[in-house]
Order: sequence, then C-alpha cells, then structure tokens
Amino acid sequence: MEFICYEQKGFVGVITINRPKALNALNSQVLEELDQTIDAVDLESTRCLILTGAGDKSFVAGADIAEMSNLTKAEGEAFGKKGNDVFRKLETFPIPVIAAVNGFALGGGCELSMSCDIRICSENAMFGQPEAGLGITPGFGGTQRLARTIGVGKAKEMIYGARNIKADEAYRLGLVNAVYPQEELMAAAEKMAAGISKNAPIAVRNCKKAINDGLQVDMDQAIVIEEKLFGDCFETADQKEGMGAFLEKRKEKNFIN
Ligand code: HXC
Repeated sequence: MEFICYEQKGFVGVITINRPKALNALNSQVLEELDQTIDAVDLESTRCLILTGAGDKSFVAGADIAEMSNLTKAEGEAFGKKGNDVFRKLETFPIPVIAAVNGFALGGGCELSMSCDIRICSENAMFGQPEAGLGITPGFGGTQRLARTIGVGKAKEMIYGARNIKADEAYRLGLVNAVYPQEELMAAAEKMAAGISKNAPIAVRNCKKAINDGLQVDMDQAIVIEEKLFGDCFETADQKEGMGAFLEKRKEKNFIN
C-alpha cells in the first residue's frame, strides 16, 4: 500500500494514514487503501484498533481538495458515498477503534475521527468542518456525527461558520476524551487500547454493538438490544472465566474469545 501503514502490537492494530506531503488528505486511493486495510484486520488476533496520521502536524487535513475541485454533481455524490461507506465500516467494525488525533482533523479528517469509537488528541490538534468556506457541505457524515457528538447548536455554529476549534475546546465540548502532549499521544492510545484488550473480547464487541445499535432506536427497543447481547455473553467461555476468576479471588484471567 502506498498511503496506509498497518502494524500489529499484541492485540492492538495500528492504522496510520501516511500521506504527509498533503497533510494526510483523503483522496480516492487513500480511501480505497483504508477500506482494504480494515477488511484485512484479523479479528481472531486483534481486539482494538488505533487510527492515526503520519507526522506530527496532521491527523487528516480533509478530503483531497485538488481531487474534488472538478467533480460533477454525480461524481461528488459518488465520492461522498465512497467515504461514507468506509467510515461506516469503521464505525460498525466489531472491535473498538481509537482515533489518536495528532494534529489537523479538518473536514473529512474530523469526520473520520468521529466514525471512531473514542477520540484522544495532541495539544496541537485542530478540529473543524471548513466545508462551507469551500462552497460545499460536509460530505463524509459530518453534519450527522458532529451534531450527535457535541450537540446540535454547537455543531451548527461550527459548520455554518466553518469555525475550527483547538484541542482544549474540543475537550470541553466532549469531542475528545483527553488531550496529551504530542510525544505522549501514541503511548496514551496504546495504553487505552491495552486496557480494552485485556477484557473479554466478545463482551467488548457486544458493548460496542449495544451502544451503537441502541442509539439508533427508542429506549424500549434499545433495552431489548442490550438484553439480547447481554444474554449472548452467557454462551461464552469468557463469561465463565471472568466470573470464575472473581469467585475464586483470582487476579489472572485467561480470556480466549
Ligand atoms: C489537498 C491538501 C489539503 C487537502 C492540505 N493540503 N490540506 N491537499 N486537500 N484537504 C496540502 C496543501 O495543498 C500543501 O500542498 C500541503 O498539504 C501542506 O499544506 P499547507 O497549506 O502548505 O500547510 P499549512 O500552511 O500548515 O496549513 C495547514 C492547513 C491547510 C490549515 C491544514 O493546509 C488547510 O487549510 N487545508 C485544507 C483544510 C480543509 O479545508 N479541509 C477540508 C477539505 S473539504 P503543497 O503541494 O502546496 O505543498 C472536506 C470534505 C469532506 O474534507 C467530504 C467530502 C465528500
């Protein structure tokens, strides 16, 4: 692959968007390679993903403006769909995905981070949906995910005003869970990923599914989704192991699947 690196560190897979000359902007090839990388993740051996950008300046500075500049209406829609399909795949991927936002997360970059389960960022990070200043709307889910993440009023203010925000404001708005010095960001992401990976893998997957699916429906239906996924855990060896370890006052747990 030209623009995506993948590294396996124990149970954690690290995906790096590697197009630093264009601040990791998403062109069609980057999107295609990201799609293939997600498809190739071995779910038997991987319990959590980290997504980041190469270099110390940018996570992803947006969709590629040069590529988009001459699109027709139909091509624009197709480009939006291509990104949306990949981002939705990430959002619904069975295992958690942590975005380690190491700089600019603008336009498609902000949207990509929001399709991850959890965002943490470096102190130099900047988030925003500058599309209205380019004569377009956000097109990779930004109108939907930003409103759902930070609330409608704040999202509208940012999107209508094409107003970028720095890390501290992103933290205050709940767009990121934590802010770190740049040099500590990846270690913090890996620590968080390791903390997730030490828990029962099927239980973690079921938690993700329950939260994501439940948020799409009303509370009565959401509770039924949780009940089903909760019940499913009782068919796993990990439920016996997790509860057995507690009852035997045993610290070490051997979760297998
Ligand atoms: C293509 C980009 C790019 C982008 C940066 N570059 N962002 N190329 N698409 N989104 C390229 C620049 O052209 C430049 O290439 C190199 O990366 C370095 O960028 P500079 O502008 O020189 O760096 P700097 O002065 O530090 O400014 C950083 C920046 C600025 C503030 C992030 O690059 C910027 O404003 N970028 C655009 C951000 C943006 O508007 N993103 C949203 C895009 S729309 P050269 O060859 O000149 O060195 C979008 C829509 C999503 O994302 C939905 C689609 C369906």
